[in-house]
Amino acid sequence: MSAISRSTAPYCFLAAIAAVAVVAATSTLKTHKSKTGNAAGNVAERLARKNILSLQPYRCARDDYEEGTLLDANENSLGPTQPRQMSNPLSLERYPSPYQWELKTLYADLRGCKKEQIFVGVGSDEAIDMLFRIFCKPGSDNVITTPPTYGMYSVCANVNDVAIKKVPLTPSFDLRVEAMLKAVDKNTKMIFVCSPGNPTAKSVPSSDVEKLAGAFSGLVVVDEAYVDFAKNGSMTYLTSKYDNIVVLQTLSKAFGLAGIRCGFAIGHPSVIQLMNNVKAPYNLNSLTSERAIKALQSIDVLKSNMSKILHERSRVGAALEALPFVVRVCESDSNFLLFQLKSDARKVYQTMADTFHVVARFRGTEIHCEECIRVTIGKREENDIFLGALEGAWESVVGSTI
Ligand SMILES: Cc1ncc(COP(=O)(O)O)c(C=O)c1O
Repeated sequence: MSAISRSTAPYCFLAAIAAVAVVAATSTLKTHKSKTGNAAGNVAERLARKNILSLQPYRCARDDYEEGTLLDANENSLGPTQPRQMSNPLSLERYPSPYQWELKTLYADLRGCKKEQIFVGVGSDEAIDMLFRIFCKPGSDNVITTPPTYGMYSVCANVNDVAIKKVPLTPSFDLRVEAMLKAVDKNTKMIFVCSPGNPTAKSVPSSDVEKLAGAFSGLVVVDEAYVDFAKNGSMTYLTSKYDNIVVLQTLSKAFGLAGIRCGFAIGHPSVIQLMNNVKAPYNLNSLTSERAIKALQSIDVLKSNMSKILHERSRVGAALEALPFVVRVCESDSNFLLFQLKSDARKVYQTMADTFHVVARFRGTEIHCEECIRVTIGKREENDIFLGALEGAWESVVGSTI
């Protein structure tokens, strides 16, 4: 078989952006209202760290040729070490595609964007870390988060020595947009918005995200890990209106594929190109991409599972509301419920786990979540076991269900 040359030249864009000097910004609040937010150059040139813009990405022969007699990458052509009778349909002795175009094409169709707007990572957690590494200068830059929120934003900020400015949500879990914009200073590079929120389960109105993206010249990162459970759907469409919005999604939740580790960032092609330049060359393994492709070809299964989970969410929510020791069940746009007990939530959570072997998540240390527990909606029988355990644990901790 003769070698086939790739027509795409995914890294030629790098040369273009590396050639442009980055102008130091004095404030990351936009001084004029521009939907695309930049007076000169693209969003990546404007916002990324200089060393990342000039990074020479790893290149291999597979960037140019991906079929033929492949003797370029020091693989083992004899095949994988595995039981002799086991087949090897994925040619696991070969490195996976660095670009994952088949997967990206399917995902672009699902979300209504272009494949060049998609980064595929080892879970959306990889995308979060990568955004920090590309856009935040360790020791000087900062990001804004809105507690109570997903813990990885802080973990990645700390790992990358980036300061965190916390602008808590209101007690009813809404963004305080004006306060967030007030918190922006010249070193603020990203604002993290989680929608639907974890642990709040509440969606952020797209108008809030638009206000932030219109007024802030850094990146607004909208984490939509739970979006398939939400009434109003994804804000992916905003990425073609605002070059500084990046949407994160994952196959870990609605698609039920947390074990394969596959997540996405969708944004302006200049941002996505930098993510591709910085990632490890073969970050997504062949087993993962095969399962991800199969999932994206099975949207009917996704829809059927969604309707089962949403039905169970209403049923469990109503059952929780009926319990006399539950004082609040938060509305949910997600696959979990956050609910508040009269008292002793931590002990109840521990007793549920230790005595009843039901593991939920105590969230009572977070702002506006006093005495709160978060529980994932599982299968009907799991949900029933949880409801029984909750009553049993309350009785054992506090003494009576009445
Ligand atoms: C809000 C949010 N974002 C991202 C993630 C991580 O997703 P992934 O499994 O794709 O890394 C989670 C996981 O719990 C999450 O709750």
